[in-house]
Amino acid sequence: MFNSRTKKVLIIGATGQLGRLCLKVFSGEKYQVMGTGFSRLSSELLPLDLSQEGEAVAVVSRVRPDIAIICGAMTNVDGCESDREKAFQINLKSPADIAREMKKIPGGKLVFLSTDYVFDGTSGPYDENAETRPLNVYGESKLEGEQAVLEVSDNNLVVRTTTVYSFQEGGNNFAMQLLKRLSQKEKMLVPSDQWATPTYAPDLALALEKLLEIDARGIFHAAGSDFVSRLDFAREAARILKLDPNLIQGLPTSELKQKAKRPLKAGLRTERLEKDVGPLMRGIKEALYNFAENLGKSPIK
Ligand SMILES: NC(=O)c1ccc[n+]([C@@H]2O[C@H](COP(=O)([O-])OP(=O)(O)OC[C@H]3O[C@@H](n4cnc5c(N)ncnc54)[C@H](OP(=O)(O)O)[C@@H]3O)[C@@H](O)[C@H]2O)c1
Repeated sequence: MFNSRTKKVLIIGATGQLGRLCLKVFSGEKYQVMGTGFSRLSSELLPLDLSQEGEAVAVVSRVRPDIAIICGAMTNVDGCESDREKAFQINLKSPADIAREMKKIPGGKLVFLSTDYVFDGTSGPYDENAETRPLNVYGESKLEGEQAVLEVSDNNLVVRTTTVYSFQEGGNNFAMQLLKRLSQKEKMLVPSDQWATPTYAPDLALALEKLLEIDARGIFHAAGSDFVSRLDFAREAARILKLDPNLIQGLPTSELKQKAKRPLKAGLRTERLEKDVGPLMRGIKEALYNFAENLGKSPIK
């Protein structure tokens, strides 16, 4: 039975790294949680393809949630560069449609997940007021998605994050890729000049819950507390997870032949989040110990 204070939360993209954790975090008695899936749909989720115009509106108008959280996105940065139209449909047009539909629900609130790729990476880590200048289609589509969602209602919330990782069976986040490769004694090429503030996904899911508790609006950055290069992050992960660091090979981005341009000094400052909900975003060491425990390995401290 749900009491009158129970809020209905719809997690759009509940099969991804963050979406799965949101399903857990919002499963307490304060919320009634539902989720959507796409390629990894299961029986307890609603089907939704954000690349198909009209589908998102149909789901939202049927569910009529008090809160919708868009975790689903076209996250493949090089894939976005190859298919601009699809990237904008998934990362901008469908979120804008959802925002308009949520506005019809009294008190309806939409949370849109965004990225530090809205910045050009010349002077990170960035705060919420820093000037945006995306270098690639993924960043452009996310920036326009943010703007559309905030334009529809000032009740809405945009949460920017970066380099999200967690232990997730079958997951493809950076730490999982490293774990898979190095466990199989395969070499891994890692950019040595891409800097960010790696974000532990369980902390991010909790930050979303805390932000909703205080009815946060506008833009917030939620990211880990360490500003590191991908190479240093990979080396620290290898050390803590007891993997062979010699299999990690650092290379400048210019030699990686990635289709989309990358912001080099990106990452996010989180003073606003800390001031409003407290210091809950862990640095890489503490988070990787927790990752190792979830993996069932006793970490090296
Ligand atoms: N991961 C990062 O490093 C990072 C960094 C900055 C910002 N972000 C943002 O944070 C959010 C969560 O990221 P994540 O790491 O959880 O991503 P993820 O693990 O790649 O999950 C992506 C989600 O999007 C869904 N999806 C993909 N295409 C879809 C489509 N056409 N229609 C409907 N759903 C679709 C997937 O559904 P299926 O699995 O069912 O196909 C999945 O649930 C995203 O908005 C992302 O842009 C992530």
